[in-house]
Amino acid sequence: MAGTLRDLQLALQLKIEELRQRDTLIDELELELDTKDDLIRQLQIELDRHRIVTSKPTSNNSGTPLPSPVGPDEPQRSKRQAISAEPTSLDPSQLSDVTLTSYCKTKESRDLIQRALMDNDFMKHLEHGQIITIMDCMYPTSVASGCCVIQEGDDGSTVYVLEEGTVQVMKQGKKLCTIGPEKVFGELAILYNCTRTATVTALTDITLWAIDRQIFQTIMMRTGLIKHSQYTDFLRSVPSFQTLPEDVLSKLADVLEETHYNDSDYIIRQGATGDTFFIISEGKVKVTQQNSNGEQVMEKNMTKGEWFGEQALKGEDVRTASVTAIGDVTCLVIDRESFKQLIGGLDSVNNKQYDSDELKAKLQAEADFFSSVSLNDFNVICTLGMGGFSRVELVQLKSDPNRSFALKVLKKRHILDTSQQGHILSERRIMIEAHSPFIIRLYRTFRDTKYLYMLLEVCLGGELWTLLRERGLFDDGTTRFYTGCVIEALAFLHSRGIIYRDLKPENIILDHRGYAKLVDFGFAKKVGLGKKTWTFCGTPEYVAPEIILNKGHDNSADCWSLGILIFELLSGSPPFSGSDPMKTYNIILRGIDMIAFPKKITKSAAILIKRLCRDNPSERLGNQKNGIKDIQKHKWFEGFNWEGLRQGTIDAPFTPSVEGPLDNSNFDFFPEDTEETPEEDSGWDLEF
Ligand SMILES: *[C@@H]1O[C@H](CO)[C@@H](O)[C@H](O)[C@H]1NC(C)=O
Ligand SMILES: *[C@@H]1O[C@H](CO)[C@@H](O)[C@H](O)[C@H]1NC(C)=O
Ligand SMILES: *[C@@H]1O[C@H](CO)[C@@H](O)[C@H](O)[C@H]1NC(C)=O
Repeated sequence: MAGTLRDLQLALQLKIEELRQRDTLIDELELELDTKDDLIRQLQIELDRHRIVTSKPTSNNSGTPLPSPVGPDEPQRSKRQAISAEPTSLDPSQLSDVTLTSYCKTKESRDLIQRALMDNDFMKHLEHGQIITIMDCMYPTSVASGCCVIQEGDDGSTVYVLEEGTVQVMKQGKKLCTIGPEKVFGELAILYNCTRTATVTALTDITLWAIDRQIFQTIMMRTGLIKHSQYTDFLRSVPSFQTLPEDVLSKLADVLEETHYNDSDYIIRQGATGDTFFIISEGKVKVTQQNSNGEQVMEKNMTKGEWFGEQALKGEDVRTASVTAIGDVTCLVIDRESFKQLIGGLDSVNNKQYDSDELKAKLQAEADFFSSVSLNDFNVICTLGMGGFSRVELVQLKSDPNRSFALKVLKKRHILDTSQQGHILSERRIMIEAHSPFIIRLYRTFRDTKYLYMLLEVCLGGELWTLLRERGLFDDGTTRFYTGCVIEALAFLHSRGIIYRDLKPENIILDHRGYAKLVDFGFAKKVGLGKKTWTFCGTPEYVAPEIILNKGHDNSADCWSLGILIFELLSGSPPFSGSDPMKTYNIILRGIDMIAFPKKITKSAAILIKRLCRDNPSERLGNQKNGIKDIQKHKWFEGFNWEGLRQGTIDAPFTPSVEGPLDNSNFDFFPEDTEETPEEDSGWDLEF
């Protein structure tokens, strides 16, 4: 006996030693990886430089590009474009009534489609039921040898599964690969209205199965919505939940987990302790109770919609009965920890800062002043920035040259062409009411026949993106300060039921003190507390998985992006990044746990990032009972002076040099807009 124990101890020690050695090896490998990452980054910067050089017509006599040194204000990395899908034409409340058309298929075809979907990096993340429905709804089509299936540059809306034959993929005239049967292609087009990035040509006569974006999105939204409303109904039928507000019930429905039991499986046992609460969603269970002599004193059956284990939500439950499955049973399960995280909070009221009379008077005076100015009262000094369909000018008040503003100018024609009216109106509505020191102020708007104008507070410290480009990455203290500013802005927005949806360094600007503010509100949306929205929005590297999977998203999508931002500021590049958007989305769907964190991200920062980037939105820090406060209390922020940040009394990590109200030296140079802007005379106008 003693001998065995010694043997075991020895074996254990050997194992421990082995583990230690492995840890050391892992540490060494991680270090090596970091060094390589740094090398890659340096090479990337070098490469970007050469790209800039070659893209300019600077060449010497021999015709080869001059490797001229790059000044600090020349772009080395390019700004990332945000994506905004067309607003979904689907009304969530009517989705369950939509009938989907299914197409007849042989068993072989069904199996082939399923295998193809399960093998695809994007599709394999869908639920089994969704995959079956997509397969049912795919329709047959065929293309003759030599003809095009997908043309580079076209607007795409269909995804295909190849059943028979082979196709060739070409990009910019270059052969990429050939694809054989049982493969999916064109999948970016089902996420949003995109331009095809490659041409696919049939090399033989081919047969395909296809599905369009509209149907795909209906399937995706419907599964989530039907399930969510079923879950919410179940919860509402439980007496102790009846008093909970709708938004809490809705969140609770998000954390319920489906669990399956086989016939005569014990779900709980009398006398055991437990942390979980159960609602029967499918099937029937037997409840039995025994007295202290082991005699059965009670037996009853429970079915769909009934629940047990409620006590567990209040404290550790000693189960007073046993519950076993009769036939197949499905329960919705929630544990005490998740429950506690959600209930007892959502205290948005506490976050609301009631404006003082003094502040109100100040705002009124300001409103009076701006309602009296017109566009003619300003001189345009120069351009500070250019976006997808707008430019931002630095302007000066003629009557008071010391007062400068940023004037965002949007082309009406362009807004109309890209159906952005809704986004623009929402941007205006949200910004005009957003009185936070961490959000750029919008004072008033103007319009004429060609343009819409937004008169904004000017911040001359430059973009955080530019600073990051120059520094490569930030240390912990610097990152903490900038993310602190962003968190304050998000706290303001979230407490008012507004989601921001386009967090990234490109949208953060520094004022003359070096404090950061959120600028672009083109994608912000007021959805209301506990509500969700569905339109695909955001910048590929920063979008949350539920946006990609079209499950509906809320505040917590911003919490995800905040995690990405912290990662990018600390390491110089975002965690999820592929050579094209679809690759990026597939990497995002694999999850944060698949990402190797560079050593320069400290342990507590890594823990915070992982808590923000949880796959399940309701498990994300910032989306639980204390909302954003949970992020502010996180260990990584320990000791950070939040009150000082709010009051503007702490020093910024970097004070930009700004000499006067017209100093644009912290911005890149932008050429004048020479493009002819058409008048918008179709009668269309915005209440702007
Ligand atoms: C997709 O975008 C193009 C151009 O941006 C537009 O012409 C087309 O109507 C859009 N399609 C849909 C379905 O919204
Ligand atoms: C139920 O039965 C199936 C097949 O008989 C088995 O694969 C599965 O693991 C069982 N589930 C549980 C919870 O025991
Ligand atoms: C419970 O259901 C089982 C199987 O359906 C049935 O045989 C049994 O009589 C039911 N027991 C009670 C107490 O209703």
